[in-house]
Amino acid sequence: MALHIINHPLVLHKLSSMRDKTTSTMKFRSLLDEISLLMGYEVTRDLPLTYEDIETPLMPMSAPKIAGKKVVIVPILRAGLGMVNGLTTLMPSARIGHIGLYRDETTCKPVSYYYKMPANKDRLVILVDPMLATGGSACDAIAHLKEDGYKQIRMMCLVASPQGVKAVEEQHPDVDIFLASLDEGLNDKNYILPGLGDAGDRIFGTK
Ligand code: PRP
Ligand code: URA
Repeated sequence: MALHIINHPLVLHKLSSMRDKTTSTMKFRSLLDEISLLMGYEVTRDLPLTYEDIETPLMPMSAPKIAGKKVVIVPILRAGLGMVNGLTTLMPSARIGHIGLYRDETTCKPVSYYYKMPANKDRLVILVDPMLATGGSACDAIAHLKEDGYKQIRMMCLVASPQGVKAVEEQHPDVDIFLASLDEGLNDKNYILPGLGDAGDRIFGTK
């Protein structure tokens, strides 16, 4: 597994605004859109290219185009939905799958409630969720994707704990993780510290 920390100054600046508890729901959402787009640039950096003959107004050339099947963006519901817009701005024809999971408040174990993916399994999956805390939700989502036949999976999160990264690393060593920040750890309720609080509640204004 490779861990990529996308610590571009623009990403870090926007993430600091998201962490600030005085940031409004509207601002939080638009910052998440912007960061997801910037991170998407790195997550897709090594997409394979093919060459097509075209003619510019001046001469023919062999021009690079993205090769292979369209990427599938897969948010883990709910909070992952907040990372979809930024990525579809970069890749307007990407397919979108959905995985519904929530973390049980007492056990912190993931509870699965929805799974819908495109039929073709030969696509690169970019699994998105702002928070990688214990890693339970991410590991479960990746296991569902693998059982369904997906082989190329990348995980894009905003903030992770060392424990979450370790869990994915141990259970799914073939999955690369892209983060904006590797935070310090977890509190006694398994919230990331310093983190940004409950991502779903902050995106959707449910608290
Ligand atoms: C949050 C977050 C992740 C999960 C991370 O979702 O968006 O999916 O918790 O925690 P873990 O790494 O310990 O599994 P939550 O369960 O709060 O659901 P929501 O997105 O519907 O609010
Ligand atoms: N889920 C969140 O939304 N935030 C955390 O810090 C941990 C899990």
